Amino acid sequence: MTRSPDLIPLGEFKPSDQWQTHVNSIFYGIKGPEIHNHFQTYVSLDHRLAHALAEDFFKHTVGKQPEGRVWTIQEWGVGNGNLAGCFLTRLQEIDFNKQVYPFIHYVLCDESEEILKGTRANPRLQQHEGRFSTVRIDAEHLDCFRPKSVTKIISNEIWDDLATKVLLKHENQFYEEYLCPHISPDFLNGDMPTFIQQFQQKNLEELAKLPSFLDAIHWERDFQRVELSDWPFAKVLQSHSQNFKDEIPMPINTGAFAALEKAKELLTSNSLGYTGFDYGMLEFQDLNQVGRPYFNLYGGQYTFMVNFPLLEDVGREIGFSKVTREYQNNFVKSSLKEEVSGVVELVQNHPQVANMPGWDRDILMLRTLQALNTVYHSPYSGKLNYPAMPGTPKKQRKQISQLAQNLSARGVPDTVAYVTKEEVFAALKPLRKLGYREKDIEAAFHSPPAPVSFIHIQFKD
Ligand SMILES: C[S@@+](CC[C@H](N)C(=O)[O-])C[C@H]1O[C@@H](n2cnc3c(N)ncnc32)[C@H](O)[C@@H]1O
Repeated sequence: MTRSPDLIPLGEFKPSDQWQTHVNSIFYGIKGPEIHNHFQTYVSLDHRLAHALAEDFFKHTVGKQPEGRVWTIQEWGVGNGNLAGCFLTRLQEIDFNKQVYPFIHYVLCDESEEILKGTRANPRLQQHEGRFSTVRIDAEHLDCFRPKSVTKIISNEIWDDLATKVLLKHENQFYEEYLCPHISPDFLNGDMPTFIQQFQQKNLEELAKLPSFLDAIHWERDFQRVELSDWPFAKVLQSHSQNFKDEIPMPINTGAFAALEKAKELLTSNSLGYTGFDYGMLEFQDLNQVGRPYFNLYGGQYTFMVNFPLLEDVGREIGFSKVTREYQNNFVKSSLKEEVSGVVELVQNHPQVANMPGWDRDILMLRTLQALNTVYHSPYSGKLNYPAMPGTPKKQRKQISQLAQNLSARGVPDTVAYVTKEEVFAALKPLRKLGYREKDIEAAFHSPPAPVSFIHIQFKD
């Protein structure tokens, strides 16, 4: 256990899932749509994943009659509502004969009222008034919907936020990770006992008034002996954990298991299943990769990587007989019938990027976006907000601000947005001027996936 004598504990050591869900509900509860100042997702600005989902949904529903004349779609953990907005727009566009879209009811479900307030104000979603509603729910403890009433469930990057335990194997014994949040005594310069009480009681109203304290939390860790027999899905877990290499922390996403159980109850027979996208390990060899990360912190939000081989085993145990998993890129690629990559991957393959300071990387990213915008035309209008990082020198700060201002509103919508190989090669001339060689571009589309990657998984009856 690491000890920091100068720091003040904000509570007791508890299993990692307990503190993780505690801080995440504070994070989402006080930040609302501001969450995207701390992280982007593949759906928060881009439309391509949402369009791929809409096209897949249309293919499976056109010409069919929904039960009770309504196709009910639920999305769990909705962020700014962009996925729903783009999904509905694409569905409406391809449904020339109005056979599917008019019968859709899209339910945006989220635990945070602040988040839902933001989604209701999303102009892309507002265009679909009458076709959607919002409901405040906890995806791990859902009990407000009628069983067998939902056609399709979608979630993007929610499982990594839900309760996750961490298991470590050592000489055939198992150890569970415990966490304890600490903060520096001079951080708030004030009444520490009151703050600790507000933090422990999740007093969102008072916590929202404080300076940003979540990213100042220091997490201490400890591992304690544990028996797996009283963990959820103990039999599946015991068999899965036989293959763990010693000393590698393994995330056990118990919140995702609970969400899957709820999904099974809610989906109609012959439903289109539960489709999830998240960040984690696709195969056992990725789980057993020495040194692979197992958690991440974004502005105080505490996320764990998803253990997809175990999630599949649990899904089958729950009764989903068809489970498929693949890299998320492949899902978008199959829909567009073209190779795809994210702009970030392209920039990461620039020959000089490794030696650049952060602000020069920002300038390269903005120039790369500008080069791609010579050929890319987004179906949606939206200006990318690209502030300079703290610490950026004045000259580069000015350059970043000017480059960002000049980005086209119909250009590539995000730094993680999907671009096709054809689009990138069509912009080869301006990209060459920035120093990209053809082999760098090829590498962006064909590098071997990292042990922690974005994954698509589908659970069906
Ligand atoms: C990482 S954000 C992803 C948002 C959006 N799906 C996207 O990809 O941009 C996680 C979302 O899940 C929500 N969330 C977290 N825990 C939840 C829970 N237990 N039940 C329902 N929603 C939850 C958060 O409020 C937030 O909207």
